Amino acid sequence: VLLHLPWIDAINTLKRERGAVIMAHSYQSPEIFHGVADVTGDSLALAQAAADCDAHTIVLCGVHFMAESAKLLAPDKTVLIPDLEAGCSLASSITAADVRALRARHPGAPVVSYVNTSAAVKAESDACCTSANAVQVVEAMGADKVIFLPDGFLGAHVATKTDVELVLWHGQCEVHEKFTAQQVRHARERFDAAVVAHPECPPDVLAEADFVGSTSAMGQWLERARPLRVALITECSMGDNLRTRFPHVQFVQPCNLCPHMKRITLPNIHACLRDLRHEVTVPDDVAPRARRALERMLAVGR
Ligand code: 13P
Ligand code: SF4
Repeated sequence: VLLHLPWIDAINTLKRERGAVIMAHSYQSPEIFHGVADVTGDSLALAQAAADCDAHTIVLCGVHFMAESAKLLAPDKTVLIPDLEAGCSLASSITAADVRALRARHPGAPVVSYVNTSAAVKAESDACCTSANAVQVVEAMGADKVIFLPDGFLGAHVATKTDVELVLWHGQCEVHEKFTAQQVRHARERFDAAVVAHPECPPDVLAEADFVGSTSAMGQWLERARPLRVALITECSMGDNLRTRFPHVQFVQPCNLCPHMKRITLPNIHACLRDLRHEVTVPDDVAPRARRALERMLAVGR
């Protein structure tokens, strides 16, 4: 912690001078999440915060699609990301041309895209969703069949919660696909831990979980259930960030880090504010259609 303090102080000073707000996803390291962020939460919370933001500069500590969503929902603001290379295996699993081909194969079926997609893919979609509202958005389409992309595991999980037929894509989160049912059983048997899993995990992992939900929903579940020990089957920083909120809970999760989320560091946040880089923009031929899909998601809510 002491090592981080000079960076934290410098960033918080610069942030005030720039009139900027720092938004950090739940998977950011604790020194970012607790030290410099003004807004924290799951991807839905960050999108809602961008739409409501009154600062003129947003520094998005998360991955590129989150910064694009912030720009789409706050088009008059300057949106900065500390590292432009912070990508996502789900977002890179599908292109706008793939979505058009799916539509051609399933005429009339609306397209619901997870926010973990590029703005170009969002622009081809009827609505976006996050893991916090995927079932609600799918059902809001009012159709018997919906094309749901790109996360095949999240899609399979949503399919267990609705009567709507889902056409799925084969995208995977490179962090969550690594968890195994064996790891979950180990946490339960060895530590007597409750198991909370993110819906991007494989189905056999989700089948072993006491609760499945978005990163924000995980915190809400811990508030309600108050387990003594918990295995959080999601990106490793999630447990680090929840530890201070739940000092009496023991976190025993296996640790998988997202290499994209971890590209964001205190030094590059400082450089981002100092040099006002890297600005995230969305091309004019894409932005209005992508914004419509995001706004449809926000209208559904959580
Ligand atoms: P949520 O915060 O929406 O649960 O998303 C998880 C995720 O993997 C974001 O990259
Ligand atoms: Fe993408 Fe998975 Fe990393 Fe989230 S955790 S940014 S879904 S690769």
